[in-house]
Amino acid sequence: MMHNLTAFLALLFQVASALAVPGPENQAHCTDHPIFTLHNITYSDETIYSTSAHLAVAGASIQFNLTNTAVSYTTECSASVGDWAWPTFFWGDIVYNCKVPAGDDAVQVSTNFTYSTSGNIQLNSTWSCGEWGKTKSFVGMASGVVKLDCNTTSWQNTNWTLGELWSTSDTTCKPYTLDLTPNVSH
Ligand SMILES: *[C@@H]1O[C@H](CO)[C@@H](O)[C@H](O)[C@H]1NC(C)=O
Ligand SMILES: *[C@@H]1O[C@H](CO)[C@@H](O)[C@H](O)[C@H]1NC(C)=O
Ligand SMILES: *[C@@H]1O[C@H](CO)[C@@H](O)[C@H](O)[C@H]1NC(C)=O
Ligand SMILES: *[C@@H]1O[C@H](CO)[C@@H](O)[C@H](O)[C@H]1NC(C)=O
Ligand SMILES: *[C@@H]1O[C@H](CO)[C@@H](O)[C@H](O)[C@H]1NC(C)=O
Ligand SMILES: *[C@@H]1O[C@H](CO)[C@@H](O)[C@H](O)[C@H]1NC(C)=O
Repeated sequence: MMHNLTAFLALLFQVASALAVPGPENQAHCTDHPIFTLHNITYSDETIYSTSAHLAVAGASIQFNLTNTAVSYTTECSASVGDWAWPTFFWGDIVYNCKVPAGDDAVQVSTNFTYSTSGNIQLNSTWSCGEWGKTKSFVGMASGVVKLDCNTTSWQNTNWTLGELWSTSDTTCKPYTLDLTPNVSH
């Protein structure tokens, strides 16, 4: 009888342990001190004139991939603006939404950012973390300065005739990676 009870308790313990398997974002990573890494911040812009006085095309874009040490997925972020934003392109006043990562652990997850051509970036991200049934939601707010290393290539049509491009100017920058320590609340 005693032997059977011990075996039963051992079995019960095994079942309980199996049920308590933590999710991918397990408790050990549920820290109030995560690090956000903005990988490969990539900026480029382009300006094309069709006459000395006519801006034909202008645009700029910025992309990066965000990782958060508290979660296992990567969040893709990007923003682009057109000729209406020329010549400053990014003023820091528009909030861009990042892609919501696919999968179960992405429930109630969102990331937003603002960027200004001066380099200031602000990013808010929400995530959830914890064992099944005991998940907590976190909000992290971070900001920093992106220091881009860029080259601008300009071309001027020296013998312009109507219908040809007057000038082009392209700026491309080396991918830049930035670590930010967010202020976290939950
Ligand atoms: C950053 O870019 C490099 C080179 O293209 C790539 O190998 C790496 O996976 C990128 N990192 C992320 C987090 O996307
Ligand atoms: C972000 O990650 C995706 C998927 O791995 C990749 O296709 C994309 O090039 C990355 N973007 C940057 C800016 O590294
Ligand atoms: C981040 O959240 C703070 C507080 O709610 C807000 O003031 C700020 O505008 C938000 N920034 C972004 C980029 O969403
Ligand atoms: C991001 O913006 C969406 C709406 O555009 C909002 O529902 C969400 O709460 C925002 N997330 C953060 C982290 O600010
Ligand atoms: C400029 O273009 C005109 C018309 O195509 C051509 O006749 C002329 O030789 C060109 N001049 C130079 C300096 O290339
Ligand atoms: C800019 O040009 C210089 C010289 O050609 C080169 O060394 C550097 O890597 C370039 N930077 C970018 C961001 O393309």
